[in-house]
Amino acid sequence: MPTQEMRGAAVLAGLGAWLPPHVVDNHELSQRLDTSDEWIRTRTGIGQRHIVTPGMSTVDLATEAGALALRSAGSDQVDALVLATATPDQVCPASAPQVASRLGLTGIAAFDVNAVCAGFVYALATASGLIAAGAASRVLVVGADTFSTLVEPNDRGTVPIFGDGGGAVVLRAGTPGELGALGPFDLHSDGELADLLVVPAGGSKMRRSDDPTDYFLAMQGTAVFRHASARMAESSREVLRAAGWAVDEVDSFVGHQANVRILNAVAKHLGVPKEDVVVNIERTGNTSAASIPLALTDACVDGTLKPGDKVLISAFGAGLTWGSTALRWPELADVESPHREQRIVQAAAL
Ligand code: UT7
Repeated sequence: MPTQEMRGAAVLAGLGAWLPPHVVDNHELSQRLDTSDEWIRTRTGIGQRHIVTPGMSTVDLATEAGALALRSAGSDQVDALVLATATPDQVCPASAPQVASRLGLTGIAAFDVNAVCAGFVYALATASGLIAAGAASRVLVVGADTFSTLVEPNDRGTVPIFGDGGGAVVLRAGTPGELGALGPFDLHSDGELADLLVVPAGGSKMRRSDDPTDYFLAMQGTAVFRHASARMAESSREVLRAAGWAVDEVDSFVGHQANVRILNAVAKHLGVPKEDVVVNIERTGNTSAASIPLALTDACVDGTLKPGDKVLISAFGAGLTWGSTALRWPELADVESPHREQRIVQAAAL
């Protein structure tokens, strides 16, 4: 990891997340795929996922999440928008400018970062760089993906795993010692393993294919599982070392929600107790770039993350890409649960 001289810091100032209303649970999936609630729960920890319905896209999820993060920050004044996504609305152009315009932010710098499931950590680092360079003093960072549009509808190896969603944070310029200051960062990639998780067709290498499955995600799950567990642990250790934190100082580990067994394996490698691992995958599935901000939102709303807590964040995705960061949790206002329909059901039951 390169030496990181802190010239100012990017500080977490707002948080929000949004899930599309349509929920598909494991029982519904097992009626059309050769799978079962029991297999999906025990092998992944997933019980349901939210998916977009026709007419809803990544830009919609990103806009909803972005609006909630701006509201939580108490201001819609930002100089830049960084959107982490691997499922933009179009191959060209990037989706971030459309999200900015939908939020009434036409004119600001806006671009996409594609590091797939590690995208949100990459986007946090990118936004922190914009702030450190003086190119922006407030940045909206959004992670949004619609992997339900990339999975082959009959593939039991991928359909149960992925869900759709959006999550976002507002970062503002601040100082390294204050609560909410992000960093250090640790980022990596290994393009030699690109074929482990790939959508072969539709890009510049294979514009068209006669095989319709080439347009869908092909995943070598077991190999990805192995790399995800090892790389997230290595990278987390690097961040702990650079932050000067002992592992037993970590109050919460927020890892990419791909599989509860991966989260438990990383925690075991690191020596973080299971009860300090944030897990919300049961209700969301793997939402790719939205997974970290969704998990942060859930953990903030349920009181797991408290001001002053030491929070370790790590993610891993296709590419391969992976990375980690850390922060001491700040005081945040107006953070809403993304599970609105469940709150409505609970309220009605009272
Ligand atoms: O976000 C980053 C990207 N993705 C990931 O991080 C995913 C990482 N990988 C994983 O989470 C796991 O590898 C999976 C959940 C995808 C698969 O779990 P696994 O324990 O690696 O299972 P497997 O692929 O080795 O399959 C075990 C068995 C096989 O049957 P046999 O050969 O033992 O008879 C599969 O055919 O489970 C079978 N299987 C299923 N059975 C019921 C695979 N998918 C299913 C299914 N329902 N949905």
